[in-house]
Amino acid sequence: MTALDLLATDGFDDYRLLDSGGGRKLERYGRFVIDRPEPQALWPQRLAPAVWAKADARFVAASDGEEGGRWQTPKPLPETWPLKYQGLTVHARLTPFRHIGLFPDQVGHWQWMTAALKASGIAKPRVLNLFAYTGMASLVASAAGAEVTHVDASKKAIEWAKENQAASHLDPAGIRWILDDCQKFVEREARRGRTYHGILLDPPKYGRGAKGEVWDLFEHLPALLQGCNAILGDDAQFLILTAYAMRASAIAMGQAAMAVIDRPGVWSHGELGVAEQGGGRIVPTSLYTRWSVR
Ligand SMILES: C[S@@+](CC[C@H](N)C(=O)[O-])C[C@H]1O[C@@H](n2cnc3c(N)ncnc32)[C@H](O)[C@@H]1O
Repeated sequence: MTALDLLATDGFDDYRLLDSGGGRKLERYGRFVIDRPEPQALWPQRLAPAVWAKADARFVAASDGEEGGRWQTPKPLPETWPLKYQGLTVHARLTPFRHIGLFPDQVGHWQWMTAALKASGIAKPRVLNLFAYTGMASLVASAAGAEVTHVDASKKAIEWAKENQAASHLDPAGIRWILDDCQKFVEREARRGRTYHGILLDPPKYGRGAKGEVWDLFEHLPALLQGCNAILGDDAQFLILTAYAMRASAIAMGQAAMAVIDRPGVWSHGELGVAEQGGGRIVPTSLYTRWSVR
């Protein structure tokens, strides 16, 4: 490994980063402007306080600085509202986890995956989306013609992802929904001899499987990558690993993946980020490593 890459997006019509600084970020999700904590925004805000004060929703962290906190909305917001990306629709909502159910920093991966699926020339490529949450990557792969397997341990998240599929008018048969622990599912697929052309993994640092199985990235990632390698077929096209909200380096993620996915092709490792409207500053969001056969 000799260099890291920066994949920063300017967003899209329904998502822009308007400003950042002072430990916060101001974003527009569709018709609403949202002010949220962003510990890495270690610089001054550019927009006037009066602009920030007009936000439609503001997340105020709990005083202990931990995960908790609550949303403040000067006027009530609808429970959900639509966000469009390339003809797909997801329902945004204010979650207790500070986000709204869409991770726009992933846009570079969505575009890259779409290009990789097209370049593969495979009529119905099989794509596995692990830790798939509200499913935007599943929708993008499905819209690109893939047969998608979407795995998440949360029933609620799968219901939300299904709503997004319906709102996007995608073929209901295009995505197989699996409520399971990702590690167990991958092991089972390997035993069944099933293979995939592309795999996405976006694991949290800690999580729980559908039956309470403990997921600890630092302990379990190498074995999960081994499992992914076992189910990437000889005609595999790509693997994308993203990691967020933890102390680690893209160098570590890249080397962990390269040690296992020992295949000819092209690697890129680095950081994802979102560029402020008007250019210049970037809010970093996560680490990634990705491999493609060409
Ligand atoms: C924040 S999300 C990942 C974001 C998602 N890839 C996206 O772009 O929308 C993390 C997800 O991992 C799921 N999860 C955590 N531990 C899991 C496990 N052991 N097996 C399956 N899913 C798990 C959670 O339910 C959650 O939906």
